[in-house]
Amino acid sequence: LEVDKIKKWHPQCRLLLRIKAPSDSGSLRPLGKKFGALPEEIESLLHYACNVAGLKVVGVSFHVGSIAQDPTIYREAIANARAVFDVADYLGIPKMQILNIGGGFRSTPLFEEIASVVNEAVQDFFPDPNLKIIAEPGRFFPETAFTLVTHVIGKRVRGEKIEYWIDEGIYGSFRPTLYNSCFVGIKTISMKESCEIGESTIYGPSCDSLDAVAVDIKLPELELDDLIVFYDMGAYSKCAGTKFNGFDMLSTPTYIVSTNST
Ligand SMILES: Cc1ncc(COP(=O)(O)O)c(C=O)c1O
Repeated sequence: LEVDKIKKWHPQCRLLLRIKAPSDSGSLRPLGKKFGALPEEIESLLHYACNVAGLKVVGVSFHVGSIAQDPTIYREAIANARAVFDVADYLGIPKMQILNIGGGFRSTPLFEEIASVVNEAVQDFFPDPNLKIIAEPGRFFPETAFTLVTHVIGKRVRGEKIEYWIDEGIYGSFRPTLYNSCFVGIKTISMKESCEIGESTIYGPSCDSLDAVAVDIKLPELELDDLIVFYDMGAYSKCAGTKFNGFDMLSTPTYIVSTNST
């Protein structure tokens, strides 16, 4: 179906065939369920797109899932891409020239590890120096650039446990909490110094009881109007927010702080 649509609306475009990443367990937010051809689908897809529809398939792309945690997943994906190039050669399709290694990267020390796994795999599986390699880094750039400051707007103490309500939740910047990739760092700023560390749950403001930002985490005791600060909130946060329950994400101000390095 997709090939027919492309043939109809954009017959001159150059296509990359997206393959399913080898293992969904290597990332916190897998993308392979919805996208990517399976190995057994490659030959017929390529044949149909190139030989029947007359489209130009010039390479392969994959996305191992956001927040890749196991660098070897890139090696496996690159090996699978090689297999697709080989099928294309076997079918007599004009030589493919592009390998798109997708995203999944974070600006952490793991990035260096992933880079060396990718470099080695490219050398092993794609010795052709004319191959063009591209990537689609997403969260890598904005993630560490933004910090989210929230206010404590409600508090309830039940036995040993303390529950807080803050003015942001899963219908706002914490949407990724729904699929695992939560915030990485948290700090509290309180008017009153408290050395009591208690088991705490943080809820968002909406009526939905799913709207929990963090459950049973250790926090110093807070009071109304204290601040809870979440680091590295620049990716898939505010942009995925909604107006659910009348809490309009667009009305939350974003402050840009810059320093002059001269
Ligand atoms: C096709 C595609 N490319 C790139 C990205 C960016 O991914 P990431 O933020 O994990 O680097 C995404 C994210 O969903 C995507 O779907």
